[in-house]
Amino acid sequence: MRVSVGQVREMKQKGERIVELTAYEYATAKLVDEAGVPLILVGDSLGMVLLGYENTIPVTMEEMLHHCKAVTRGAKNALVIGDMPFMTYHASVEDALRNAARFIQEAGCQAVKLEVGVTVADKIRRMVECGIPVQGHIGLTPQSVHQLGGYRVQGRTPEAALKLYRDAKAVEEAGAFSVVLETVPAELAAFITRKLSIPTIGIGAGVGCDGQVQVIHDILGLFTEFIPKHAKRYVNLAESIRGAVSQYAQDVKAGAFPTAEHSFKIDPEVVAELERIVA
Ligand code: KIV
Repeated sequence: MRVSVGQVREMKQKGERIVELTAYEYATAKLVDEAGVPLILVGDSLGMVLLGYENTIPVTMEEMLHHCKAVTRGAKNALVIGDMPFMTYHASVEDALRNAARFIQEAGCQAVKLEVGVTVADKIRRMVECGIPVQGHIGLTPQSVHQLGGYRVQGRTPEAALKLYRDAKAVEEAGAFSVVLETVPAELAAFITRKLSIPTIGIGAGVGCDGQVQVIHDILGLFTEFIPKHAKRYVNLAESIRGAVSQYAQDVKAGAFPTAEHSFKIDPEVVAELERIVA
């Protein structure tokens, strides 16, 4: 049975910590789903870790939908959240609603995610009214990197902390089922978590959140350009891949691959006959 937004809300009430992880294509989504992760985020972080963009701003609706479709084919039990790209939910409520609907109707996602609080609350409200579950995202919102002046910790001054709290409340009041808190001091994230009835999902926001989300490439050691401070590397897949690929290349060059085990047989008479025909 697929995880529902109601179950996610219940997890907070029961004090059950919530696990969310990104996935961007079929094979990984299937593995993450089989591992029992209840929330899969098709994050626009795919722009950086899969597509090689400098930040998430160039990511388009078409790119997101393409990856969301692959993930929803692989994930049978998790609730799949599609991340709405930059400028696809800002211009108007109608625009936001139409784009959100594409994630649900065309890509098969069960929810969408939007960055920033108060400024998008009207869009969240309308989506929820139309039956589209929404996850908010506040704190360090990477689509606003130019406005924020870089990837900095958010909410450190009294004014910034109050703004963050108000953003969280606005997201909750608009009807979102959860909210991501990114790169926020742990004590502030814990305070916001206590004040909200919906779950907070932290990334670089300490252990006091109701759940945690990470970019899968960071925890698997697949993205090698930098390791964010908030990420823990559980395995170094980049090393394993480099090792396996160089071994493969060596085997091919040395004629050590393929062996009989990886090859297909034919009746030698067929080849002998072919030799006679084309001689
Ligand atoms: O795009 C993404 O992967 C995200 C998470 C980091 C929360 O927004």
